[in-house]
Amino acid sequence: MNKRIGILTGGGDCPGLNAVIRAAVKSAILNYQFEVYGIQFGFDGLLHQKMVPLTLESIRGILPKGGTLLRTTNRGNPFKYPRDDGTGFEDRSAEFVENFRNLGLDGLLVIGGDGTLKIAAALGDMGVPVVGVPKTIDNDLLSTDFTFGFMTAVATATDAVDRLHTTAESHNRVMILEVMGRNSGWIALYAGIAGGADIILIPEIDYDPAEIVKTIEERRMQGSEFDIIVVAEGARRRGGEEVYVHKESKRLGGVAYQVAADIQQKIDLEIRVTVLGHVQRGGSPIAFDRLLATRYGKAAMDLVARGEYGCMTALHSGEIVAVPIHSAVSGLKLVDPSGELVRTALGLGIAFGDGK
Ligand code: F6P
Repeated sequence: MNKRIGILTGGGDCPGLNAVIRAAVKSAILNYQFEVYGIQFGFDGLLHQKMVPLTLESIRGILPKGGTLLRTTNRGNPFKYPRDDGTGFEDRSAEFVENFRNLGLDGLLVIGGDGTLKIAAALGDMGVPVVGVPKTIDNDLLSTDFTFGFMTAVATATDAVDRLHTTAESHNRVMILEVMGRNSGWIALYAGIAGGADIILIPEIDYDPAEIVKTIEERRMQGSEFDIIVVAEGARRRGGEEVYVHKESKRLGGVAYQVAADIQQKIDLEIRVTVLGHVQRGGSPIAFDRLLATRYGKAAMDLVARGEYGCMTALHSGEIVAVPIHSAVSGLKLVDPSGELVRTALGLGIAFGDGK
């Protein structure tokens, strides 16, 4: 049967989205002779019928490109859709399902992180045949070893750590780099170890400013003249709260300035802060992410062809497998404070600001 398949990208963008779209479209057309449609601006596209045909021509050259050909938004949840008159939210999921059916679509590929895939799972429960692909630079989705986009963000953050090393060394400074990751410390931990940071602060291990100062003082006594601290945006001072740039929307950001202020009270050293921000989300995916995204895109279309809906593609010990979307969004995958990665860092003398 000649199926009609929709593809959408939801939530924040991430390097590798285009690589997934390309692989899914190629596989759909070359292996299954399916018709493929790109739904623009996430779930919004089905509510407002913003759909474009995706052909081999339209996906040409997009493999190395950052962003998403289909555009995206982290608003537009059909279950909690903002009312036009600005008076709160309404549930438009029934309209979404109706549009899906009226457009004659047989399946929907949803490429997204935790929030987007939660919506996909709920739409699946309403009878929409969905297949998920795990995306996020945060790498915080359960049921998969890696989401695509994460390693590119780590590479960007590691490059920043390298660059901060040379300027820190020239000035004998304490350099604090804030990286993304929402409530998980994966980017900070990977980039901190890969870049040779001295202190890594992550949401999974609350920090004590006095312990950070102690580490810096010990390093000075041992002859080190500068320090590199990598802090995840979701990190918290012991007994404290997360730091937001925008409290109402709970948009994280600025904890590095808090760390700087806390330790500046106790040490007479020059401290500088860099907040890396959306640089981590932009640009071309590194080879690891291109490959992972391509494998996910092809595998997702195989699931559609086999009618295995309600599943998400995942990476398990090097193999691509299918897992229930519901299990992937049943919680967050966080760093294990006593796991191998943290122990590796500790074994190299990297401190976590908790005195251990
Ligand atoms: O989830 C990806 C992410 O980049 C987080 O690391 C970060 O906290 C958030 O999105 C930023 O979102 P926005 O694009 O809305 O600023």
